[in-house]
Amino acid sequence: EVTKDWNGADQVAIRSPRGASVRVCLHGGQVVSWRNDRGEELLFTSSKAIFRPPRATRGGIPICFPQFCQFGNCGTLEQHGFARNKIWTIDEEAPPLNYGDNNNNKASVDLLLKPSEDDLKCWPHCFELRLRVSLSTDGDLSLISRVRNVNGKPFSFSFAYHTHLSVSDISEVRIEGLETLDYLDNLSQRERFTEQGDAITFESEVDRVYVGSPGVIAVLDHEKKRTFIVRKEGLPDIVVWNPWEKKSKTMADFGDDEYKQMLCVDAAAVERTITLKPGEEWTGKLELSVVPSTNCSDHLDYPGRL
Ligand code: BG6
Repeated sequence: EVTKDWNGADQVAIRSPRGASVRVCLHGGQVVSWRNDRGEELLFTSSKAIFRPPRATRGGIPICFPQFCQFGNCGTLEQHGFARNKIWTIDEEAPPLNYGDNNNNKASVDLLLKPSEDDLKCWPHCFELRLRVSLSTDGDLSLISRVRNVNGKPFSFSFAYHTHLSVSDISEVRIEGLETLDYLDNLSQRERFTEQGDAITFESEVDRVYVGSPGVIAVLDHEKKRTFIVRKEGLPDIVVWNPWEKKSKTMADFGDDEYKQMLCVDAAAVERTITLKPGEEWTGKLELSVVPSTNCSDHLDYPGRL
């Protein structure tokens, strides 16, 4: 099903037989909504979001490529790269999945971004970035990105799924799976620290890149008694961001109190850039699911878990 969004940029919606849904916008290849089978929105979108290309909408899952923040050697590129600000196309070469075909339990949509003349002026590398967004019959969301070097020379990039989770109250949220890891702190010139706490909780601004993180982590929302399970492949880092009170007030597209209902947990390749030789391809995968908090330990099989 293809529908139009508020500004005429195409959106694609997938609905599972049980009523879960996901909406993806061709502007940015951005997932702008993910709902469970009770119709509850699981991603945060700001009430102040500006739905006007070429800026990415504040919320959902913008794709950060070919750089994240100013990490990587991308010269003067804009913050988080240009992919989130561009109009993608439907990838006609990728046959979409449909529920029930060959007994699969997913439906998908495939998008494609290739550089424009202008993009090549800022970042002179020919690439193809393909994104498959799929929704399982259980309502699990998966994003698979593939970057191919169709250039004559190697290039390097960083990447992130800038995932804005909707939470009930940030003070009641904790992340498990990042304890004892090293992180680069964006709030102190990317100085390297080691996480000391048992789990990560929030009482002030946080902007960190946890490096070499496990393939699965959990974001527990105590008040809602539900847990986001974040699984990733090909993406060694996890960025954790909440602007808190003071920073929120400086952001034009973010409400003053909305930091209480949002937590960004981004599967990313940031600390070390990815290098592709001509003809090579890289794949980065994110899977999000939601489980009742009482069952979440069944999903956390990462090494070192207590
Ligand atoms: C986070 C970064 O992921 O995104 C922060 O770690 C940044 O440093 C934040 O401030 C928001 O970025 P943007 O470009 O979406 O406003």
